[in-house]
Amino acid sequence: MVSTLNQLLAAEDQQDLVAAFADAGVDMGGEYPVDVSAADLAERTKDIIMSVSREGGQLLYLLARAAKARTVVEFGTSFGISTLYLASAVRDNDGGQVITTELQADKARSAQENFAAAGLSDIIELRLGDARETLKDLPAPVDLLLLDGWLDLRLPVIKIVQPRLRPGALVIVDDIDLHIGRDFTRDFLEYVNDPANGFLSLRLPVHQGVQVCLKLS
Ligand SMILES: C[S@@+](CC[C@H](N)C(=O)[O-])C[C@H]1O[C@@H](n2cnc3c(N)ncnc32)[C@H](O)[C@@H]1O
Repeated sequence: MVSTLNQLLAAEDQQDLVAAFADAGVDMGGEYPVDVSAADLAERTKDIIMSVSREGGQLLYLLARAAKARTVVEFGTSFGISTLYLASAVRDNDGGQVITTELQADKARSAQENFAAAGLSDIIELRLGDARETLKDLPAPVDLLLLDGWLDLRLPVIKIVQPRLRPGALVIVDDIDLHIGRDFTRDFLEYVNDPANGFLSLRLPVHQGVQVCLKLS
């Protein structure tokens, strides 16, 4: 698992992320491409590795171990880097499952290869399709949810998964400080920062900000 992860992270380090996104029509300092669908954006960016940071991955592993997570759900697989951190934690918690979902078929195929190379395929279920559909049907209770798909879909996706989260479950949100044009984060933060909606939440200063939310009841 470590060598698969290191290879992926090394490949990511080789990329010029800003240039790669510019080629895909996304100006990281400009406007979020609001006029394209989630699927179009996934298609345009299908070759870009855009994973959680190394520290972010370590945080995922640590929190999943601390929560004794056995059922983990992830929105946004990409090439599977965060999934490998989560699946390692689930394996080290004596087993369970990670359900992850990716919209772009080539990326999903590469992620499956990476899971096999890491020896973790048996605990990872990859659902190909739009998270707003693929995550409607989940086992309960879910112990941990990672939100790392397109920025504007974090709020709808947390609302879809919320009824399956056990009291005390964690929701971890990568790139909470990342703003491209429109501020999609404000609505999301207003939701998770209001205990009336069932969460307590705190921003951690890890890479581009990681929000950690606790499901109250
Ligand atoms: C930032 S990347 C995920 C990185 C991954 N978590 C990691 O750390 O390696 C976001 C991914 O979410 C996928 N995605 C975006 N919208 C989606 C949706 N509605 N349903 C499923 N996947 C989606 C994109 O295709 C992209 O691969």
